[in-house]
Amino acid sequence: MSIETHDHDRRMLERAARRALRGHGDAEPNPSVGCVIADIDGQVIAEGRTRRPGGAHAEIEAIRLAAGGARGGTAWVTLEPCNHHGRTPPCVDAIIAAGIARVVVGSPESHELASGGMDRLRDAGIEVVVRPDVVSVRRLHASFHARVSTGLPWVIAKWAETSGGALSTPPGVSPWISGPRSLRMVHRERGRVDAILTGIGTILADDPRLDARDVRRRRTPIRVVIDPDVETPPNASILTTTGGPVVIACRDDDRSDLRARSERLTAAGAMVLPIGEPDEGSAIGDDHRTLRGRFSAGRMRSLLRRLAEEHDVTTLLTECGPGLLRSLFEADLVDAALVFTATQTPKDEASPDEPRPRDLLRSASFETIWSGTRENDCVVWSQRRT
Ligand SMILES: NC(=O)c1ccc[n+]([C@@H]2O[C@H](COP(=O)([O-])OP(=O)(O)OC[C@H]3O[C@@H](n4cnc5c(N)ncnc54)[C@H](OP(=O)(O)O)[C@@H]3O)[C@@H](O)[C@H]2O)c1
Repeated sequence: MSIETHDHDRRMLERAARRALRGHGDAEPNPSVGCVIADIDGQVIAEGRTRRPGGAHAEIEAIRLAAGGARGGTAWVTLEPCNHHGRTPPCVDAIIAAGIARVVVGSPESHELASGGMDRLRDAGIEVVVRPDVVSVRRLHASFHARVSTGLPWVIAKWAETSGGALSTPPGVSPWISGPRSLRMVHRERGRVDAILTGIGTILADDPRLDARDVRRRRTPIRVVIDPDVETPPNASILTTTGGPVVIACRDDDRSDLRARSERLTAAGAMVLPIGEPDEGSAIGDDHRTLRGRFSAGRMRSLLRRLAEEHDVTTLLTECGPGLLRSLFEADLVDAALVFTATQTPKDEASPDEPRPRDLLRSASFETIWSGTRENDCVVWSQRRT
């Protein structure tokens, strides 16, 4: 293959990845795939992305838009085209029927059920090229591949911090750290994930609603509180405002006071979810034995697994304070971070939280995937290196 073709394939896969990114929050639990199609003369004639479950996959959307012009052409697809009948028929059949001559794949399928697409295409005489070296495609599908291999949701830790790295302001100062445009970005993100997770500390300090307001919502996230001792007040905003269902994750203790509080929260509309200590957890940490019933790494992993299995949670945004954030980082359960740093706060302001979440993030050595500004706030998206 010539260097020119090699570079062209990379650029077209990057274009397909950009198209796919627009589907974040629409496609899940399916991977958000992008596809670009060029005709036999190399002119780009169509692009597609995966729609809501049951809707068109990226390849199908692009083939439809190409309206017969794909014959003899090339398709660049960020993920190996599926080869099974799920909610929709296999994409490989549509590619073969469209007469596409060459398919460039950015990432092989990791889900066994849907794999085998490239073999089918080759058997049909189509040239198939795999290009796993395109960074934006690798980042795009990191969450999907991680979910398939771990069975856990993709966890995005979101926080707003002062220039000094504190997550809260001193008494007497406005509690709002980031500005309205950052807040809007948060609400948009809330409307694209399956769940929002917080800790009892935040519920008691801020009484948040944790819903997506004044933005186009692609899904309604369930709201999850890690509340080992069932201390969420039954009149908390999370329970008295409209939004997704509320799950209270507590310890599995049969103490009568916990039972009574659980019953009150159930009556207020919450789903109380006692989480037992899995065997693996006892080897990882004993902190669940402390009086406040903190969750060990194993217990937090168990909670995430149950959210995935019982509530179809594929993506989860954390909106908690430094306490829970620290536990999540220490348990290696954070996959991505969305951090808003308010630049107009004093730099030398001491942070009461040690280690600061930004220090934990630095130790995790994530890679930056996007950065920008929202008024006076610096915004950085980062995620695990894959
Ligand atoms: N800037 C932001 O983005 C942001 C977002 C949310 C909240 N906040 C601020 O953060 C402050 C609250 O902080 P916080 O740390 O108390 O809130 P939090 O992280 O939401 O909740 C902390 C609670 O969770 C518990 N916890 C920690 N790790 C745990 C684990 N492994 N298992 C079970 N429970 C665990 C803590 O228990 P222990 O008591 O045993 O430690 C504590 O009771 C407030 O001032 C709030 O305004 C800021």
